[in-house]
Amino acid sequence: MKRIPEPFRIKMVEPIKMTSFEDRQKALEAAGYNPFLLKSDDVYIDLLTDSGTGAMSDNQWAGLMMGDEAYAGSRNFYNLKAAMQHFFGYEYLIPTHQGRGAEQILFPCLIRRMKEVRGGENPVFISNYHFDTTAAHVELNGAKAINVVTEKAFDTTTYYDWKGDFDLEKLEATIKEHGAKNVAAIVTTVTCNSSGGQPISMANMCAVYEIAQKNDIPVVIDSARYCENAYFIKKREQGYADKSITDIIREMYSYGDMLTMSAKKDPMVNIGGMCAIREKTELFQAVQTLCVPLEGFVTYGGLAGRDMEALARGLYEGADEHHLHYRISQVEYLGERLRAGGVPIQYPTGGHAVFVDARKILPHIPGDQFPAQALCNALYLESGVRAVEIGSFLLGRDPATGIQKESPLELMRLTIPRRVYTNDHMDYIADALIEVAKNASSIKGFDFDYEPPVLRHFTARLKPL
Ligand code: F0G
Repeated sequence: MKRIPEPFRIKMVEPIKMTSFEDRQKALEAAGYNPFLLKSDDVYIDLLTDSGTGAMSDNQWAGLMMGDEAYAGSRNFYNLKAAMQHFFGYEYLIPTHQGRGAEQILFPCLIRRMKEVRGGENPVFISNYHFDTTAAHVELNGAKAINVVTEKAFDTTTYYDWKGDFDLEKLEATIKEHGAKNVAAIVTTVTCNSSGGQPISMANMCAVYEIAQKNDIPVVIDSARYCENAYFIKKREQGYADKSITDIIREMYSYGDMLTMSAKKDPMVNIGGMCAIREKTELFQAVQTLCVPLEGFVTYGGLAGRDMEALARGLYEGADEHHLHYRISQVEYLGERLRAGGVPIQYPTGGHAVFVDARKILPHIPGDQFPAQALCNALYLESGVRAVEIGSFLLGRDPATGIQKESPLELMRLTIPRRVYTNDHMDYIADALIEVAKNASSIKGFDFDYEPPVLRHFTARLKPL
């Protein structure tokens, strides 16, 4: 596959430490065989996440110097609001410290509105797939999070353009089962992180919105990777090849009523997020009211003025087509190199990551011995590359029975930060993983040394079996 050259030049570098196999063995043992507990200094290429790990541009760094740190009414808030309106066409903005900040102030208000205005009693949220923190905020507020992503997402080997689509039949059946008045919101996640950074088509977003409107249910667009989703629509969906990314984004957001955003992804800031609402209703006032004690005053919401400026500029840079072409191609290049080397992945590759099918590489390791975690550890030992497990280890136990939940997939996510690593780094990662996969039969599973009761994957310690 053709390598698309970097559409930037490097003005400043951050040296990274080179480690030996023995160094990594010691570091991994000290980290309890959990890459989350490694010191970043002991990592050569860090693919834990694309969140907050992107490289800001000279233009964004220059924006930091233009911070207006007034407590209220900062000029950077107005710059951010104008940029937000330009892309999404929504009128009302509340900045938040990151994506989950937006979730924590919006979701309780949606539930209250559902109860007071629509007379519901047992709140549910329906999504193509709730991200972990999104599901956590749904559940912390006493509601249920239901995922109805297309079944095609779970078949990693067969090509499908839209593995982030809602299964529309399941969506309608779920609304019927719970009663429309109990559906606090439909959450359209673009791209669908949990199925592999896979895009949702414009046609599907439109159909979801029609179903929502018919049932008087609000639609929230979870907007971490909306530029990448727009790029996939341009490349794959009929009728969009000649449209600009901005126009595609505007159409996507016409199929929603509000958005939450983790700005740490596509807009390439190290911290930041927002909640935006199309029209002025009591909902906006309720969210603003909750913002003050939880995030901060309504014109900064957990961000410094300078952070809002970097974000305003990042909204434009993230939607640049040359940037997106390079970005998506870099991820695809890594995926294609792995496929050519016999490593099974979620195919096609998504926007922000290559999801490696660890169950297929390590069929001898059962789910409760965490095959994808074992693969992450083997890759780190081989190369200093840190990846993240998305499978049984992350999923955890059924709270009622204490039994390990059955994960539909055992994946290792190689998450690519934006504008940080070069195509040569991609070759290094591919070479290392192909080598690890060749010796897969010698890799062993893991058991717990220490298992925390909730969100165990962040701090658990393991021992090799
Ligand atoms: N929604 C999606 C789809 C996400 O991927 C994330 C974060 C969030 C919401 C929450 O945003 O971290 O800014 O509070 N995803 C990161 C990841 C952490 O590694 O995939 P946040």
